[in-house]
Amino acid sequence: MKSFVFLGIVVATLCASFGLELPSFLHVCSRNDPNLGQCIINSVYNFMPYLKNGLPDYKIPSLEPLLLKELTSTSGGNIKLKLSNVNVYGASDVILKRINANMQKLRFIIDLDLPKLRIEGGYNIDGQLILLRIRGDGPVNGNFTNCKASVKLQLEKTKGADGDTYLKVSTLQTKIAVGGGKLRLQNLFGGDPALGEAVNGAINSNFDSFIQELTPALESAISSTFTQIADSVLSQFSYDTLFPDA
Ligand SMILES: *[C@@H]1O[C@H](CO)[C@@H](O)[C@H](O)[C@H]1NC(C)=O
Repeated sequence: MKSFVFLGIVVATLCASFGLELPSFLHVCSRNDPNLGQCIINSVYNFMPYLKNGLPDYKIPSLEPLLLKELTSTSGGNIKLKLSNVNVYGASDVILKRINANMQKLRFIIDLDLPKLRIEGGYNIDGQLILLRIRGDGPVNGNFTNCKASVKLQLEKTKGADGDTYLKVSTLQTKIAVGGGKLRLQNLFGGDPALGEAVNGAINSNFDSFIQELTPALESAISSTFTQIADSVLSQFSYDTLFPDA
């Protein structure tokens, strides 16, 4: 009995200090798979229900909701909008359209659609809309429809503490195009209802140009979240485990 407990501890310790055994939520793909992109798409879909709630044991954050700490509009426009602690709902309904996988160069190009995203968070706005000085802060909610994203992922090999080869993210860039949507800023002008309605109306009738100012911040926030998720998975399973040479 004692030796079994001992064995258990040894196994647990080995698993903790070396690359983990494959859990059932990870379907791996052979690095020589001629349809590697499609294989990765299938395993991401298989992984999605787990990703939705996150896997604290594997240091994988939850995707539903996805928390974006801060999004600041570019200074190009006359209006400076800062969103903070934005919860994004709907990212797990992602449709993976295509993954172009180049295993030799460890380069992946991922095209995906996000049919509907809902956001909830806080905002701070300051700026000039035609003749009106706009300012306010408070809660914001909004819906983005038909978002298309393209992710360029470059991985690199690295030696793990156990001597095995692991992959890590070298660069990850996201380009996003928001199809359409609607935002609602509450408590504009300290809660003045008529002015608040008017400004929300003006924002939403110029939604495209308005959202363009926010897109670079959205892209870099999403890129760093994806990097974090990818690195969590990649740091725990060796290259040979994730992409067996079968
Ligand atoms: C976004 O959609 C939700 C439900 O789908 C709705 O309750 C909310 O009012 C919408 N927000 C805006 C700004 O249209």
